[in-house]
This record gives sequence, structure tokens and C-alpha cells, in this order.
Amino acid sequence: MQVSRNEIIAVQIPRHIAIIMDGNGRWAKKRFLPRTAGHQAGVSAVRKTVEYCIQKSVAVLTLFAFSSENWRRPQQEVSILMELFISTLEHETEKLHQNGVRLRVIGDRGALARPLQDKIAASEQLTRNNQKLNLVIATNYGGRWDILQGVREVARKVKENVISIADIDDQVFESHLSLSDLPEPDLFIRTGGEQRISNFVLWQLAYTELYFTTTLWPDFDEQSLELALEDYANRQRRFGYTSEQVESRANQSVPQPGLLD
Ligand code: FPP
Repeated sequence: MQVSRNEIIAVQIPRHIAIIMDGNGRWAKKRFLPRTAGHQAGVSAVRKTVEYCIQKSVAVLTLFAFSSENWRRPQQEVSILMELFISTLEHETEKLHQNGVRLRVIGDRGALARPLQDKIAASEQLTRNNQKLNLVIATNYGGRWDILQGVREVARKVKENVISIADIDDQVFESHLSLSDLPEPDLFIRTGGEQRISNFVLWQLAYTELYFTTTLWPDFDEQSLELALEDYANRQRRFGYTSEQVESRANQSVPQPGLLD
């Protein structure tokens, strides 16, 4: 990964925010509602977060909507979540498109129902040229799954003599992962109080700033995101350098190629 001096100075607004939206079930339980009501309220929080990221000129927002492990949930909850994904795509795609949002889904979509796969493909196709915000929805996604599918693809290329083992470095391997054409997450947010990464984007979180909040996802609003951004703006990202090196680079008006690049 290449880190330029400009990137170190411009830390205030993360280019890429990745969120684990946790706490829907507890939000519903507190209101004596079924868990699925929490997921429905979660969609409203997604809408607000997308709007806010557009306002703040965030380039990429990745949301963990359904993990490879979420199939273990009660069958009825899984079905309702899948229906919610379809209806959200049906209702929101046009609005996303009008607002310049490019929608993408990452994960093993082969296991999703055909109508959902078709809706995803149609939404991706419609919004493919939009540039204001990249909205990435991780569905039937797992960080280990992503790494393994990358390993398989690299191994296949080695077997077919497309690349040699000596060619495999960070960049070559990364180019086989789901988010390969996007910057790595600068800020990871997990709502709902747990402090785990739970098999989310594992490779790409290597240098990401982690932020945990007890706010339940349906309650996550503009103010909650402001707090996360404020916290992020106060972090010093070092990428392996000492804090003295980072500060002296940031204070210099003349770029010194080679040191931070
Ligand atoms: C975790 O809360 C949440 C999920 C597994 C589903 C997330 C889905 C949404 C927010 C709605 C759909 C989103 C899109 C992008 C269409 P939990 O159920 O584990 O909550 P708990 O920990 O309180 O039980």
C-alpha cells in the first residue's frame, strides 16, 4: 500500500467508511417488537447514513448487511432479511441513481435467491457510471471467504502460467479481492456495543482506524456519525512510521518524494 504525504495530511474526512450495523434485534426487543422490526428500522438508518456520507464527500461506504454466518439465524428471520434486501433495492435504486450513488454488492451471491441476484445485477448495471458515492453492500460476505476466493484465483493463474509465484506480492494479491479497485477503509465503525471485527473485510482493515459505539444501529443518526468522524479526525495515522516522522512530513511545505510514498 502506498501512502503519500497528502494522504497523511488529509485525514479529516475518511475516504472509505466500513460499518458493521449491529443492534437491530436489541432495538426491537426494547420496544417489545419482533426482531425484524429492528431490521426495518435499520434500513432507515442506512438511508440517513448514505445521505450524510454524500454530504460529507465520503467516497466509499461499505455496509455489512448479511454475513456468511448469518444463515444460522432462524429461517423466518433469514427470509425476512432477504425480502427486505429485495424491497430496499426495488424502492431505493432509482433514488440512489438520481443522487449519483454507485451500488455494488460483494459476497458469494451464488447462494442468494435468483430474484435477489437479478435485482442486484440490475441495480449495479443502472448505477455503474455514478461517481458521487460508492455504496458497497456486503451480502453473504465473509472476510475469510474473500481471501480464499482470491487465493484460489491466484493459484489458478499460477497453474496456468499467467503469473509466477515470485510475482505474488501485496498488490498482486489485493487485486484479486472484492474491494480491489477501491481505497482501503480509513474508518471502521461497529454499532451495538460489541468490539469485534466478526469476519468483515479482514485484509483491507490492516491499517484502518477502529471505532466502536454502544448506539444500536437503528438509532445511529447524523449526530452519531459526526461523533465518529470527530474521533477519527483526532487520530494520527502512522502506517508504520514514528509520530515524529509523520509530524515532520505534515509540517513541510515541500514534498519529499521517496520517504512517505
Ligand atoms: C445485525 O443486528 C444486523 C443484521 C444482521 C442485518 C443488517 C440489516 C439491515 C440494517 C437492514 C438491511 C440493509 C440493507 C443495506 C438493505 P442484530 O440482528 O444482530 O442485532 P442484535 O445484536 O441486537 O441481535
